[in-house]
Amino acid sequence: MTTATTGNATAVRAVGTAHARVEGLAKVTGAARYAGEIPFAELAHGWLVLSTVARGRISAVESGPVRAMPGVLTVLHHGNAPRVDADYTGMLGRPDPIVEIFQHDRVPFVGWPVALVVAETSEQAREAAEALVVQYDVEPHDAAFAADHPGAYVPENPAGMETGKGDLAAELAASAVVVDAEYTTPEEHHSSMEPHAATARWDNGRLEVVDSNQGSMWVAEELAKLFSLDPASVRVRSEHVGGAFGSKGLRPHQVLAVMATTLLHRPVRVVMTRRQMFSLVGHRSPTAQRVRLGADADGRLRALDHQALSRTSTVHEFVEQSASVGRTLYDAAAHHTANRVVRLDVPTPTWMRAPGEAPGSFALESALDELAEQCGIDPIELRARNEPEAGPVSGLPFASRNLLACFQEGARRFGWADRDPRPGVRRDGRWLLGTGTASAQFLARAVPSTAAVTAEPDGTFTVRITAADVGTGARTALTLIAADALEVEPERVRVRIADSDFGPAMIAGGSMGTRSWAWAVTAAVRELREHLVPGGAVPPQGITARSDTAAAIGALAQKERHSYGAQFAEVAVDLTTGEVRVRRMLGIFAAGRIVNPLTARSQFLGGMVWGLSMALHEEAVRDRTSGAQVGADLAGYHIAAHADVPLIEADWVDDPDEDDPVGIKGIGEIGTVGSAAAIANAVWHATGVRHRHLPIRPDRVLLAGAGRETVGERDAGHRR
Ligand code: MOS
Repeated sequence: MTTATTGNATAVRAVGTAHARVEGLAKVTGAARYAGEIPFAELAHGWLVLSTVARGRISAVESGPVRAMPGVLTVLHHGNAPRVDADYTGMLGRPDPIVEIFQHDRVPFVGWPVALVVAETSEQAREAAEALVVQYDVEPHDAAFAADHPGAYVPENPAGMETGKGDLAAELAASAVVVDAEYTTPEEHHSSMEPHAATARWDNGRLEVVDSNQGSMWVAEELAKLFSLDPASVRVRSEHVGGAFGSKGLRPHQVLAVMATTLLHRPVRVVMTRRQMFSLVGHRSPTAQRVRLGADADGRLRALDHQALSRTSTVHEFVEQSASVGRTLYDAAAHHTANRVVRLDVPTPTWMRAPGEAPGSFALESALDELAEQCGIDPIELRARNEPEAGPVSGLPFASRNLLACFQEGARRFGWADRDPRPGVRRDGRWLLGTGTASAQFLARAVPSTAAVTAEPDGTFTVRITAADVGTGARTALTLIAADALEVEPERVRVRIADSDFGPAMIAGGSMGTRSWAWAVTAAVRELREHLVPGGAVPPQGITARSDTAAAIGALAQKERHSYGAQFAEVAVDLTTGEVRVRRMLGIFAAGRIVNPLTARSQFLGGMVWGLSMALHEEAVRDRTSGAQVGADLAGYHIAAHADVPLIEADWVDDPDEDDPVGIKGIGEIGTVGSAAAIANAVWHATGVRHRHLPIRPDRVLLAGAGRETVGERDAGHRR
């Protein structure tokens, strides 16, 4: 028998060295199965039918003819679906009522689920779903987002949607330089590569769901509450996930798979189509933002006012908190922020990578660039002059704040010192060239989690934690972290994740997953090592230790704790075609200890590509007359493709969080923050024209090039 002890102090630590994904081979060879392709015997397939009207009531679901179609097993709708109880508060608050499916006849937006056809094959289900006739009593709708919509209000919950200190009018009046500008960003969609999919079945009195999600415990708890089940009788697994970005919590497909399997007594799978994802899984609200900055001639801020409006549905309140980004980034004697929202007949938005910070940083970091221009100060120097001593709104001390270190390193590598600040003076043939920069910032928090670590008799170790690897490399990061804590080679550690039976843990979200899980894993290892006798034998069932970090994490709240970054971009603009090409991007981040440089770099790069795509491409257009999104697919919704993405570099400065057992802060979202502003600022530097409405489309560049000032105002959220 091998003795399974730890601690033959490996000279090389695993954390901080590049490791390919532990499941990489399985993924590239197709051995890794995703939720929509795991085989089940007797599997039936559900296909969703979505509303075609934006507001009204369902007057008839003509399911008779469809029930007679080949292979059809049942048609579920509000007239026959089992009752559920959505009157609960889950791990992340009240559920979006879209999961309270088929409980009434009201239709609150185009793309609301109205029926599910279940059949022997997915082709039969689809054929029947497309043939299903649903009749509606249509009511007038309002799906038009506008900066001056009369329905805008400041939500009361959660508290803190509005903050303010100091006399704004007085400080603006006393300012030598004032920027007062309006910015808009459009509706945007996550569109994870893997569509949402779930298979449900009952197995010896237990509900088993195979899913693609950001948190299997999260989904399991909500399913238990929704169907009034004993939480112990629900098991959700989500072994591999092809992207999530905030969209993969409890959604209609899991609920419907459970309903259908309960009725049919056989496994049922529901997979969304790409088009269905556009209305069923949430999205980023469009925003209309006004930023006012007042400063002394030397650029020191006296006034900061950030007002942001976003949109929610009529059935649920979700607020894209774009105005909040400046609360921890810059101070001013008068400092005001407010997040407003308006209820429209549209799907409910949700978290989408860097919710709030992504659109908010576009507006604020563009405004900072405008201020730098007006003051005649370098944009990096402007930020240096406005480094706050403490949290501008909270008053809390900063745990660590390495924003300027990012700018210093970034400026050196990007060649910023040679930059001619004048706009519109560099040419490369038909291209005008420019460079821009912006700050990035994201909250660095942790959430209590539990983990178990087992010393196996063969000398290996098994970690069990309800983590989710949504494509980030979290499974690999946890392997390295466990290996270092155990002081063994990573090859001796097996990490099992994404099974709600492993116990409560943070979801993959808020850039907090790996940090929260790592904390629990290291705590469990510490506990395990207490139980291992050097050279001692391990029984056949192994030796297991568990952790719960609830008590340890509380202390983090006493400081402002963020990751930071400096974004740089170089663009080329052709004023005769309106084309903007990004030539290079550089992001330097201070984001805690980097666990796996290989996958971390991909995380940062991916975030920056999101910023590029946001700056130049992405825009969901909603038709006023129908209330529907035009071209809700990846042909109509334009994302950056390979040819749009230039050489991008991401790197980091040393920035361990001293209060974290591994030093982690979190890296999932910060790459997205500020990257769109850096590109927009570079477009200004190239052309001399400010683009305050995203995306910076060729038509907007052309109109601006012709000297028209109100680029995009009409269609980007302002009423005529
Ligand atoms: Mo995310 S928007 O942190 O799931």
